[in-house]
Amino acid sequence: MIDQTRLPNKLVYIRCRDYKEVANAIKNLVVRGAPAIGVTAAFGLALAAIQSNSKTLSELMADLDIAFKVLQSTRPTAINLFWALTRVMKKARGKKSVDEVKNTILDEALKMAKEDIEINKQIGMNGAKLFEDGDVIMTHCNAGSLATAAYGTALGVIRRAKEDGKRLSVIVTETRPVMQGSRLTTFELHHDDIDVSLIPDTAVGYMMFKKVIKHVIVGADRVLRTGHVFNKIGTYQVAIMANIHKIPFYVAAPLSTFDFENTPEDVVIEERSIDEVIKIGRKRIVPKGVRVFNPAFDMTPPELITGIITEKGVLKPPFGKNLELLYNK
Ligand code: MRU
Repeated sequence: MIDQTRLPNKLVYIRCRDYKEVANAIKNLVVRGAPAIGVTAAFGLALAAIQSNSKTLSELMADLDIAFKVLQSTRPTAINLFWALTRVMKKARGKKSVDEVKNTILDEALKMAKEDIEINKQIGMNGAKLFEDGDVIMTHCNAGSLATAAYGTALGVIRRAKEDGKRLSVIVTETRPVMQGSRLTTFELHHDDIDVSLIPDTAVGYMMFKKVIKHVIVGADRVLRTGHVFNKIGTYQVAIMANIHKIPFYVAAPLSTFDFENTPEDVVIEERSIDEVIKIGRKRIVPKGVRVFNPAFDMTPPELITGIITEKGVLKPPFGKNLELLYNK
């Protein structure tokens, strides 16, 4: 897979040789973005299965349980990680032979990768109708091809609108501190010849005040049944500003990103190394001894969200009730 920590300066593909390398790649943001993390973890389990020397079914399942725990401990917020690992393990259980388990897990991982692309295209189709020719769209973080098996969720909607012949301009926030906007989203959009401009995170309010932005669209790491959306740190403040300026704020997410069990208090917000904040490149810019917080995600409440674009359609408030209807469609 592409090593996203090297983008945009180097487009390097790396090969993970075992599930531990897969886990490290997820932890270190070599691969990131909720759906991409999920699919990658599924392939991690496939590697663990294929490389297991177990002769019996119970030994193999024990090896898989260890790999499962290592992979699931890599990042806490994106639910696709847990969803993907659980789905693969569920398929593996109840199989009759070691070979059957190994084949089933690999087939399931491959199926998930394929499915993810189809789902993103469906999200793109459902969401593109919301945009008109000439619109200027703001996005935060990277919810594109890089964050999924391919095509993207939020950027998939933009891609589809372009395929439909709409000329869109995209305004991308830097997305401090890891700069997924500056490094990844601009790279991806520029690569695909989609009109893109970068702004500092701090310019969001000003650009909205100037009436430059027509819509905001972002991805999600987890959506609760109440419509609370967990996404990259900064999403909440973009949503507040969009609300004040009466700009529609959309979330694009597959149903694999929905969490029907937990409440806002249950969700763990990942805290990452302060090195991401105190340094620019290798240079420290913050005095030693200063306390630093580095939460990687925040929660946007449903009242700030205009709609959630899924593969089954666009959810409108009240999200709880409409989600039930959509899910059973
Ligand atoms: O820390 P990251 O880069 O994994 O965070 C990614 C995001 O917050 C994305 O917006 C989200 O995962 C949706 S990706 C389709």
